[in-house]
Amino acid sequence: MRTEFLEALERASKPEELTKDDLTVLISADKEESAELFRLADQVRSRVMGDEVHLRGVIEFSNYCRKNCLYCGLRRDNSALLRYRMKPDEIIEGARRAAGLGCRTVVLQSGEDGFYSAQMLAEVVFRIKKELDVAVTLSVGDRSREEYALFKEAGADRYLLKHETCDAKLFAELRPGTSLKGRLKRLRWLRELGYQVGSGNMVGLPGQTAETLAGDIILMREMEVEMAGIGPFIPNKQTPLGSCKGGTLEMTLKTLAAARLALPCVHLPATTAVATIHPSGRVKALQCGANVIMPNITPLKYRESYLIYPDKIGLNDTPEESYSRVVNTVLSAGRSISRGYGHSLKYERKCAGI
Ligand code: 5AD
Ligand code: SF4
Repeated sequence: MRTEFLEALERASKPEELTKDDLTVLISADKEESAELFRLADQVRSRVMGDEVHLRGVIEFSNYCRKNCLYCGLRRDNSALLRYRMKPDEIIEGARRAAGLGCRTVVLQSGEDGFYSAQMLAEVVFRIKKELDVAVTLSVGDRSREEYALFKEAGADRYLLKHETCDAKLFAELRPGTSLKGRLKRLRWLRELGYQVGSGNMVGLPGQTAETLAGDIILMREMEVEMAGIGPFIPNKQTPLGSCKGGTLEMTLKTLAAARLALPCVHLPATTAVATIHPSGRVKALQCGANVIMPNITPLKYRESYLIYPDKIGLNDTPEESYSRVVNTVLSAGRSISRGYGHSLKYERKCAGI
């Protein structure tokens, strides 16, 4: 093993001292080094976050999107996609189903769909929070500060807005008409408004290096995010990046493990994307630092239309089937299901001194 690799692992006992160079070295681990990296990440996850896995039920309520990101199947110009929108009552019914299954968090996710006014979404959040004993995460993209404030007042607990890549040039190329600066501004607003904030990035984007991925982790440490969604980029033929190479399982796991070392008390999901590129992707992610899974609770009839990338798992599963598959995954990894909300540890004031 390289001396610099061993030194970086050693520095991980003080996560705030891990530098971008350290993280680059960790993410460039060879096979033998990876085994050490994964072992330490699993140990840190167990010590800091415990062995429970939090299940967050995701409802993909609209696949309309006004944006045109080069990597994403929901992009505006993808005319091959059948578009749908769920009505407010249908979304609330979906949340009831998620809560009935045992999810203590409901994630409301969509493309950037102006059809839903801030008032409409706030009303949905309000009704869910009033009726059900769940935390609510919103993931509806770029909105104004006032709109984010309205959602918060209605009771939203968390907001998920991935920075996707810390490379400003790549960000602007991949997300036409937007900038990394604008995204970071929104992440700061969300923090100021009192949300638990989630960000994250894709692994394996064209033009990205191990150093970029290290930068992604450093950026999330600087932004003090509470959740980091890290998943492989999967090329989609219905997008301009259709013939690019995608992210690998190894690279994704190494990035995840390095993130666990640098951000010990952050929630890290074993993503649907990692499960899509490898049959045991989620179990492996749970063994490399992840402590969250987001079962898909979208009604069956809409699933195949929320096709961000091809071969997404669970397209023929009902919410009940998705949920029980995820439970089996967790148990097969020797872990247990959390019955709590899975708030940020910072929020629960448990992360002092780590
Ligand atoms: N592969 C993997 N993840 C993707 N996303 C979008 N397109 C892809 C893709 N081709 C992720 C992004 C975004 C969310 C909607 O899905 O990270 O935040
Ligand atoms: Fe729309 Fe988000 Fe997909 Fe971009 S990544 S096209 S904003 S759903």
